[in-house]
Amino acid sequence: MNCPTEMSSSKKVRVAVIGCGVISELHLHCFAHNPDAEVVAVCDLVPERAEAAARDRAPGARWTTDASAIFAASDVDAVSICTDHASHAALACAALAAGKHVLCEKSLARTSRDLAKMLAAAEARPDLVASGVFQHRFEPVPRAVRELLADGAFGRLLTATGSLHCFRGDDYFRKDAWRGTKAGEGGSVLINQAIHYFDLLLWIAGGAESVRAFSANLGHEGVIETEDTICVALRFAGGALGSFVATSASERKWASELAFHGTLGSVVLRNDAVAEVSASTPEAEAGIRRKLDEAVEAAASVFAKGKTYYGPGHQAQIDDFIRAVRTSSRPFVTFADAAATDAFVFSAYASAARA
Ligand SMILES: NC(=O)c1ccc[n+]([C@@H]2O[C@H](COP(=O)([O-])OP(=O)(O)OC[C@H]3O[C@@H](n4cnc5c(N)ncnc54)[C@H](O)[C@@H]3O)[C@@H](O)[C@H]2O)c1
Repeated sequence: MNCPTEMSSSKKVRVAVIGCGVISELHLHCFAHNPDAEVVAVCDLVPERAEAAARDRAPGARWTTDASAIFAASDVDAVSICTDHASHAALACAALAAGKHVLCEKSLARTSRDLAKMLAAAEARPDLVASGVFQHRFEPVPRAVRELLADGAFGRLLTATGSLHCFRGDDYFRKDAWRGTKAGEGGSVLINQAIHYFDLLLWIAGGAESVRAFSANLGHEGVIETEDTICVALRFAGGALGSFVATSASERKWASELAFHGTLGSVVLRNDAVAEVSASTPEAEAGIRRKLDEAVEAAASVFAKGKTYYGPGHQAQIDDFIRAVRTSSRPFVTFADAAATDAFVFSAYASAARA
């Protein structure tokens, strides 16, 4: 990226958090724990939420209900977008046009049209950092599996499969009008809860090239208009085949699995932990286990740093965003990186709509 806006190394990055709902608490916590960041403003359409966020989680920050006041403010360097999916594109595009660095929660966009607008806005401002949240990419174990695969430790990848079985009750959807709607959320279980594991599956396996899907509403009829259950078939870029299933109507609260099987070995992650490893020789298996054990050890220190409910990666991603802003360098997850996964979410929805 170009560096016209490189910051002096002693200056803190002045951040505004837009959207003061559930996830904003974690963003505010992580910015507060980054010595190079300072939250100067918070914003929510609901004044009580903005006021409470400033009072309870960002002492000293001002609050507003008007995001355009944030974009116009000369004392805001960067914004963190923590609003519903439908509002991401307009907020991110306006922020970039106003010269603010942007961190945007998943799903980056609600539709492929919005996604294209966001990518164009980021491309138009290569001097600004535009990063999409996929915090699980910062966790050491998925990173180690990705490296092992890329290094050929499992041989040629044959299959890559993933799943998330979780539960979201009717009250969860009724609480916020945007959830479970096409107009507000853009979908449901795939674009929201399961997108993290779908992203890891695609990212670790090296990207997909085509997708087919079926979706259904099996447990929330009359409550949501979008899917609570989905089954996606994938052809990966390297030729491997795979699948991903997810539901938010399960009796299980949160159960994830990712499995990668190659010609020389395999690995299964269950609930983010290494559950199974095998390889064609004991030496190869020992080498794989050694690297994964190191990652598990490193994960313990990442976990120790932040709240763990949404995974420990948020602190690492927010630290990475602040580093990228301060050094005018590429964030670990650019808009384009996050958009690659969003694009497959939208392709899966389009396929399911045709099926
Ligand atoms: N990465 C993760 O693990 C994770 C976890 C939870 C949520 N999320 C994502 O975070 C985002 C927010 O989710 P949430 O659960 O916090 O939602 P939420 O409904 O609890 O909060 C969203 C807030 O944004 C506000 N808002 C909407 N439009 C606005 C605008 N134009 N200006 C100012 N405020 C506006 C709403 O009033 C609301 O208070 C979503 O994209 C969601 O998918 C990510």
